[in-house]
Amino acid sequence: MHDSRETFVNHAFVAGYPIKHSRSPLIHGYWLKQLGLEGSYRSCEIAPADFTDFIDTLRSGSSGFVGGNVTIPHKEQAFQLADSPDELSRELGASNTVWLEEGHLHATNTDGHGFTANLDDRAAGWDRCETAVVLGAGGASRAVIQAVRDRGVKTIHVINRTEARAQELADRFGPAVHAQPFEALREVMRDAGIFINTTSLGMDGSAVPDIDFTILRAGGIVTDIVYVPLRTPILQQAESQGLVTVDGLGMLLHQAAPGFEKWFGQRPAVDETLRQIIIDDMANHA
Ligand code: ATR
Repeated sequence: MHDSRETFVNHAFVAGYPIKHSRSPLIHGYWLKQLGLEGSYRSCEIAPADFTDFIDTLRSGSSGFVGGNVTIPHKEQAFQLADSPDELSRELGASNTVWLEEGHLHATNTDGHGFTANLDDRAAGWDRCETAVVLGAGGASRAVIQAVRDRGVKTIHVINRTEARAQELADRFGPAVHAQPFEALREVMRDAGIFINTTSLGMDGSAVPDIDFTILRAGGIVTDIVYVPLRTPILQQAESQGLVTVDGLGMLLHQAAPGFEKWFGQRPAVDETLRQIIIDDMANHA
């Protein structure tokens, strides 16, 4: 039987604006080499005004790409321009992964998979809890809320500085998701088995409120989707209180795997060597 994986040298991209800080080429480059594949993965800096043309060229087949990742600020537009966005993308209104099949542009969103796969890897059993607390209601928290809900966590409390944004997400993601005011933080944490930070709290010079993580249910986990720095102010606080913590780097690594499989035909593994490559890169570009 003819194996297309051996016959074709596929090319994929990450499109964003700006794009020079993207670590995706390092991740996919590592996997291509590890798996002995001859394909390529490269950064494309695409200004917002040029994104529609970029997608049209991709769809026509003349770009030479089989698909790619889409990052800030193009995720919403990628969803809108795709011929077949999947159910996950449709609910989020955003896609981060696209691929061509017979001139048809498919799109999905792998951020939620990245989030849960990282927890499965580092804190297996995390999803046995009935209640989760999500701090933040920005773009990045959406895929997290969707994924935690889809794993069966029954109650998800979303707390955000701007409460209206938390309410928007509760409306979008259904009855499992509840918007709460900041003042309710302590109360909702008492029922929760996992605390998820999706904000940049403390990283922009803002003061980090003292949070008592010890009131989480026994075995409570604290995780952050921000991975620069690896030990965010929230994680440092939780760690100093003796909680199990999971940093956000694994989310970046795991969200990349489904796209790689679509474009290059093999499912790659997230391993410690890859993690270290990104940590070293972060140190070199601090
Ligand atoms: P992203 O797409 O990365 O999530 P975003 O949409 O700008 O970025 O959202 C950033 C999140 O961090 C928001 O929840 C934001 O709260 P607001 O919706 O009130 O802006 C939150 N955030 C950022 N800085 C914060 C701070 N100093 N205190 C509390 N929340 C903060």
